[in-house]
Amino acid sequence: MEYLTSVLSSKVYDVAIESPLQLATKLSERLGVNLWIKREDLQPVFSFKLRGAYNMMAKLSREQLERGVICSSAGNHAQGVALSAQRLGCDAVIVMPVTTPEIKWRSVERLGATVVLKGDSYDEAQSYAKQRCEQEGRTFIPPFDHPDVISGQGTIGMEIVRQLQGPLHAIFVPVGGGGLIAGIAAYVKRVRPEVKIIGVEPSDANAMALSLCHGQRVMLEQVGGFADGVAVKVVGEETFRLCRELVDGIVLVSRDAICASIKDMFEEKRSILEPAGALALAGAEAYCKYYGLKGENVVAITSGANMNFDRLRLVTELADVGRKREAVLATFLPEEQGSFKKFAELVGRMNITEFKYRYDCNAKDALVLYSVGIYTDDELKAMVERMESSKLRTVDLTDNDLAKDHLRYFIGGRSEVTDELVYRFIFPERPGALMKFLDAFSPRWNISLFHYRAQGETGANVLVGIQVPPEEFDEFKSRADNLGYEYMSELNNEIYRLLLRDPKI
Ligand SMILES: Cc1ncc(COP(=O)(O)O)c(C=O)c1O
Repeated sequence: MEYLTSVLSSKVYDVAIESPLQLATKLSERLGVNLWIKREDLQPVFSFKLRGAYNMMAKLSREQLERGVICSSAGNHAQGVALSAQRLGCDAVIVMPVTTPEIKWRSVERLGATVVLKGDSYDEAQSYAKQRCEQEGRTFIPPFDHPDVISGQGTIGMEIVRQLQGPLHAIFVPVGGGGLIAGIAAYVKRVRPEVKIIGVEPSDANAMALSLCHGQRVMLEQVGGFADGVAVKVVGEETFRLCRELVDGIVLVSRDAICASIKDMFEEKRSILEPAGALALAGAEAYCKYYGLKGENVVAITSGANMNFDRLRLVTELADVGRKREAVLATFLPEEQGSFKKFAELVGRMNITEFKYRYDCNAKDALVLYSVGIYTDDELKAMVERMESSKLRTVDLTDNDLAKDHLRYFIGGRSEVTDELVYRFIFPERPGALMKFLDAFSPRWNISLFHYRAQGETGANVLVGIQVPPEEFDEFKSRADNLGYEYMSELNNEIYRLLLRDPKI
């Protein structure tokens, strides 16, 4: 009840707009439901985050405002705090990790805040901000775990209830630390308890789903950074308490599905959402299909549009895969005359959208990497069966992220490298990161493989092969741990073995 009154009395409209609720006509037609989109991507600073930040800051006393505020964030919260401070005429310090791209900290600076770049990670930036807030008497503005922030985000729920008065099946909400969903649930469940509140998380950033499943907050060891707005290791205490009580469920979606939803939104409204901003659309689509919903009203919150332009390349590459309009495949062709033609015949009427092949005089089989535009799962299955029955081994790589991020770019790369270990390392995006990596391992061990392609993420996803004899593994492990970059082994990834090692496996 307390949340209901604090949402109703919150002050967000000094700075935020009442965002439109629009029918997504093309998507609705495709899914057979009425899919409404709550356009938080149209807010000033292009995300809903200013609602919570402003609501908390507007309640500070004159003395507190005079002492100023501080927060740590490299994303939308930073812009929300900066704009709110500008409106309230108070001084704001925003602490960001040193790895934050210039474009992000400049846009915060432009709003009049003081940016301090500190620490390699968000955690380090946050502990610095908390320390400074004690020293200087500033007020710390948390990104999600505070009743005033939660109530500010809850005004979105209030608007939806006002804007859509007929029956409503569910509201789909992207989840990071849980402030947005907690606020919406706290309001909607009091006034329209029959409306389901469904959270949506990326499958590799699922802190809320895991916490709800275990009945307590779970800290993730690694978080996928693609949807950076929701890349949170642990959800808030108060947000978790509310979600446990009020949220009906969480849908997990893949990176490909998020990209497909960004494309849907572009086709629908000619707007580009950031990955976290498209999350709820992807979740709503998966849910409607899974439960076979027909004719119902559902709402998805398009929560932000602060898209890093460099990331668009990856988004466009993966969007068709996510919509299952394109499949990524590998086929082994015998190196003999006419086999290429035979292969082309077996592809048949399927449309090839990408093709890579290079002759290897040492190999009996040639590896062809290609993509096809597909229309149905059956068509793809039939094509793979045609290949297999003609003894052309064919592997579907469509759901393998390692293949899509790295392996598809290697061609003619199979070889027997002795003692090769293969890891994906997440390099911080800053000058010197590569040298630090090389200093740790080279010239002690030979680097046998290296692939990186900028995808506009905060951490660069790099595939590395390194030759380490078994008796030196412990030393390698300790150097890798000391390096401080996240890393994971891909040695047992079947597709790595198939494409870069021995095709017989
Ligand atoms: C665009 C976008 N969507 C969703 C979220 C998730 O919000 P919350 O952390 O309150 O769950 C964020 C958080 O910053 C965001 O920036």
